[in-house]
Formats: sequence, structure tokens, C-alpha cells
Amino acid sequence: MKALSAHLAASLVLLCSLAAAQAQGADTAPMEAAPGFTHLGVSSCAQSTCHGATTPWLTSPIAQNEYFAWRDHDPHSGAYRVLTGDKAHGIAAQLGLKDAAQAPLCLGCHADNVPVAQRGHHFKLEDGITCETCHGGAQKWIGVHNLPDTDLSTLGDKGFYPTVQLQSRATLCSGCHELGRHGADHRLVSAGHPQFPEDLAAYLEKWPKHYTVNASYIARKHPPAPELLNGQITLLQANDWAEALAHSTADPHGLMPEFSFFQCDNCHRSTHEADAHSTGQPRLNDAAVRRLIDSNVIVDRSRRQELQGRLNALNAAVLHGNRQEYGNAAAALYQSLKAAVAAADANR
Ligand code: HEC
Ligand code: HEC
Ligand code: HEC
Ligand code: HEC
Repeated sequence: MKALSAHLAASLVLLCSLAAAQAQGADTAPMEAAPGFTHLGVSSCAQSTCHGATTPWLTSPIAQNEYFAWRDHDPHSGAYRVLTGDKAHGIAAQLGLKDAAQAPLCLGCHADNVPVAQRGHHFKLEDGITCETCHGGAQKWIGVHNLPDTDLSTLGDKGFYPTVQLQSRATLCSGCHELGRHGADHRLVSAGHPQFPEDLAAYLEKWPKHYTVNASYIARKHPPAPELLNGQITLLQANDWAEALAHSTADPHGLMPEFSFFQCDNCHRSTHEADAHSTGQPRLNDAAVRRLIDSNVIVDRSRRQELQGRLNALNAAVLHGNRQEYGNAAAALYQSLKAAVAAADANR
């Protein structure tokens, strides 16, 4: 951190310890696409006659080389490995954790950290974010998902996660890529963890995929159009931010919400800036909600106006510094966003 005025720094000491206390109780539950099913492990998917072909099959609509595409090109396959490196050791040490590769806080996003009772014989935590982290524990569907007359969309009750479906896909990816998820908070970034993306939809587009969206894929699967998917992610990111903020303000033990809800440069700024000494009141980092309002994701104009009004009220409440008003405004904004998410669901 470059410079904090002495006054602000002093008042922040108290806030830091409160934020730390909050983080202890944070939800570090593992990411689980479809909860409750046994995860067999990557080797169960990777045989050469399954998804471990070295070259794409010409006789099948599915390339069958997904395992190598994932292993060699998808950063998710190395997500556990980074927990054993120097950078992770440094982050863990800052947080007082003995071993990042064993800490639930880190494993929640960097591995397929399902409960031990759900780990099959070939399951290995070291495999990182695996096929089953996203597609669901395979025990009940592995034997049927490849039969010629199986309709994949009917395998949900066997634990097959609908990765192709709009809301499910957006929920899956944002589950590990947003600040506020799985216990990721200001403590985590201040310990040196990479920052989480501001514009999540644009970030997720960079994902190196293990499937090809061509005419055959579209005819088979009817995937959501990319702009619909991006819109859904933008909507979800705003909703998740407001939800986390509303929960945080509802916590009677917190003096104010977690630092990560505020604009980073309110507290972290360079001494060269002209206004470096006028610290003022931290402003909320409401970019996710503003991006949603400015986009055309929400078609209904009155709904957008309602959101803008509630966001204005929230920002005013933050400036007043009144905790009760602040909490109420956060809850009201979250209610509006939840309604917008529900309306989007109903339209599809
Ligand atoms: C909310 C999910 C989440 C949690 C919790 C989390 N991480 Fe991460 N981590 C990520 C994501 C996403 C990235 C990729 C960021 C990027 O490159 O854009 C990442 C990247 C990293 C990197 C950089 C990897 C590289 O390729 O350079 C390290 C190191 C790391 N995390 C360590 C940790 C440690 C240690 C913990 C626990 C103290 C932890 N992470 C907790 C999601 C998480
Ligand atoms: C980060 C999440 C994630 C991981 C990890 C992952 N997948 Fe996927 N996979 C997806 C998404 C999203 C799609 C696209 C939606 C769809 O077709 O269901 C997909 C599509 C597929 C498809 C469909 C291809 C087609 O043409 O219909 C196959 C097969 C597949 N994955 C197999 C695997 C295998 C095998 C692994 C592990 C080696 C794996 N996936 C790992 C998320 C993931
Ligand atoms: C279980 C948590 C988890 C889920 C679910 C997940 N990711 Fe990730 N993702 C991570 C972590 C952790 C990393 C960093 C891995 C590393 O650095 O080795 C990462 C890395 C990435 C990167 C790499 C960014 C870069 O710097 O190259 C992209 C893009 C990405 N994920 C997109 C997606 C998409 C798209 C989905 C959904 C289909 C998804 N992720 C689902 C945890 C997750
Ligand atoms: C309300 C003020 C406040 C806000 C807002 C804030 N921080 Fe901090 N930050 C602090 C304080 C105080 C410290 C030093 C104490 C600590 O580590 O918790 C700190 C420490 C850090 C550090 C460690 C710096 C170092 O040199 O050790 C990083 C990195 C960091 N913050 C990143 C961020 C990011 C990224 C954001 C926005 C998501 C953010 N902060 C928002 C007050 C803030």
C-alpha cells in the first residue's frame, strides 16, 4: 500500500481486526456443481476410448480428446499445483495458514474439494479443478451418458450438471471468480492473491475450451448465444455483489462491510496524487451494478430506473455513515436485483 493518511490508518486498524474476525467465519464451503454425488476422479474419464483420445475422433461428433485439451491448455488442471508454489506459500504465510495445499480456504476454489465421503477410489485432490468439478460427480451417470439414445438433459437427477444451460453455466463459472465467494475477501487480496476481475463476463471469455462451438455442436446442444451468456454473467455479478453486501451489513458484529466492497483506490493511493491527503469517506465499488444498469441486459426501463434509484440511495447511505440506513439500502438493492434475476429466468 502506497500511502494512507495517519488519521485514516489509525481508524482502519480497528476495522482491519473486525474484518479479520469476519473472515474467520466466512463460508469456505467447497465448490460443488451438483452436490451429493461421488466423484470418481479424472482417470475415470481419461481412457483412450473415452475422453483421452490423442487426436480428435472423426467418426464422433464429440472430439474425445477433452482430457488432453484440459490437461495441456486449461489453467484449471493446474489450479491445485499453484497451491504448492512459492507464491501460494507467501499468501498462506500472510494469512497464518500452515499449508495452502491443505487449507479449505484455498482448496475451495483450487481443487475439486468435495467431502471425503464423496471421493471415489481414483479421486485425487492433486488433479485440481477436474471434469467432475464442472460436470458433476460421475458415479451415477458415467455408465449411461455415452449411450446413443441418452438425452443428457435428463441426467440431472443422476448428478450431471447442465453446463450448457444458461443460468447453470453462469453460476458455475462465477462461483470461483468473484470476490466474496468461498471466503475470498480483502484479507486474501491483501495477502498477495491476484485480484478478481472487475468485468467478469469479459474475463471468462478468455477460457481455453475443450470443445468446439461449430454448426454440429450448435445443432446438437443449442448453446446460449455468447451475448446472452455475457448478459447473464453481468446480471449475476451485480446480484452476487448486492447479496454479499446485504448479508455483510446484516451482520450485527461488523462495524461496516468488508473492505472489498469499497473502491480500492479510496484507501490505496499514491502520494503523488493531488488529493492524497483528503481521504474522505470510502466509496462503494458498485461497478458491477452500474455495468448492469448501463448494459441492455435488463430490457424493462422502469426496472433499470428502480435499480438506479436504489443504488443512489445506497451510496447516499454510505456517505451518511448510518449503519441502519446503509443495511436497509443494501437489502433493498438486493431485493430489486433478485427480482431482476427471477424475471430473466422467467423470460427463458
Ligand atoms: C474465490 C476463489 C478463490 C479462493 C478462495 C482462492 N483462490 Fe487463488 N485464485 C483464484 C482464481 C480465480 C485465480 C486466477 C486469477 C487470475 O489469474 O485471473 C487464482 C490464482 C491464484 C494464484 C496465482 C496462480 C498463478 O497462476 O500465478 C495463487 C498463487 C493462488 N491463487 C493462491 C491461493 C491461495 C494460497 C489461496 C488460499 C489462501 C487461494 N488462492 C484462494 C481463486 C481463488
Ligand atoms: C471449468 C469447468 C469445466 C471443466 C474443468 C471441464 N469441463 Fe467439459 N465442459 C464445460 C463447459 C462449460 C462445456 C460446454 C457446455 C456443454 O457442452 O455442456 C463443456 C463441454 C464438454 C463436452 C461436450 C463437447 C461436445 O461437443 O458436446 C465434453 C465431452 C466435456 N466437456 C468433457 C470434459 C472432460 C472429459 C473434462 C475433464 C478432462 C472436462 N470436460 C472438464 C466445463 C468444464
Ligand atoms: C472450482 C473453482 C472454479 C470454477 C468452477 C471455475 N474456475 Fe476458472 N479458475 C479457477 C482458478 C483457481 C483458476 C486459476 C488457475 C491457475 O492459475 O492455475 C482459474 C482460471 C481461469 C481462467 C484463466 C485466466 C487466465 O489468467 O488465463 C479463466 C479464463 C477461467 N478460469 C474461466 C472459467 C470459466 C469460463 C469457468 C466456467 C466454465 C470457470 N473458470 C470455472 C477456479 C474456477
Ligand atoms: C477501507 C480502506 C480499504 C479499502 C477500500 C481497500 N483496502 Fe486494501 N488495505 C487497507 C489497509 C488498512 C491495509 C493494510 C492492513 C491489512 O493488510 O489489512 C490494506 C492492505 C492491502 C494490501 C497489502 C498491501 C501491502 O503492501 O502489504 C493489498 C494488496 C490491498 N490492500 C489490496 C486492496 C484491494 C485490491 C482493494 C479493493 C478490492 C482494497 N485493498 C481495498 C485498506 C483498504
